[in-house]
Amino acid sequence: MPRFDAVLFDLDGVLADTAHIHFAAWRRLGEELGIHLEPAFEEKLKGVDRMGSLELILAHGRVERTAEEKRVLAERKNGYYTAAVAEQTPDDLLPGARRVLEEVRAAGLKIALASASRNAPPLLQQLGIAPLIDAIADPAAVKAPKPAPDLFLEAARLVGAVPERCLGIEDSVAGIISIKDAGMVAVGIGDPTVLTRADYVVPTTEQFHIGDFL
Ligand code: BG6
Ligand code: MG
Repeated sequence: MPRFDAVLFDLDGVLADTAHIHFAAWRRLGEELGIHLEPAFEEKLKGVDRMGSLELILAHGRVERTAEEKRVLAERKNGYYTAAVAEQTPDDLLPGARRVLEEVRAAGLKIALASASRNAPPLLQQLGIAPLIDAIADPAAVKAPKPAPDLFLEAARLVGAVPERCLGIEDSVAGIISIKDAGMVAVGIGDPTVLTRADYVVPTTEQFHIGDFL
């Protein structure tokens, strides 16, 4: 019997090559506010939801804004992001992403998405992988964003899997904490010196093979 019943995927930076697009949009907004974001700041924003990211950027620049101004700024960043994302096609999937999803399905495991992004459903359509995914956890439907475990627990619930039999796959520090605090096994995509709480780390999605975990 396999060790897992479901694999729960993050989207940006795991399946879609969009992590750098999010960061480019935040950098553009930052420049407009006189806040320079050095490249290392990208790691702090990965997996963090839209308003949480804006709060980190404003705090970094010691800039204060009212709640209404923040709403407008977050909306502006989203406009930059969605304009770039509208150009995405199946060719923009990260290498190996489609193969990984197909292998997980062929192994008889469920697939759920646990992405903080409110743009996930249209992005999945554009990338042509929506039919490979059984359920999408809605970040608006859970109490607390990553690094809280809520979104991964919701993804597991949607596909009827208990946390101990779920494998979570993430490229962000916040996401790995969510997976571990949800009581699941975590695979990090990236650098093991950054994703220190992951149970396993592979450098890119292309190096992930579900057969290694069953
Ligand atoms: C995560 C990204 O997947 O989604 C973050 O790693 C992003 O960078 C977050 O802020 C929220 O995305 P969106 O599309 O709802 O603004
Ligand atoms: Mg990610």
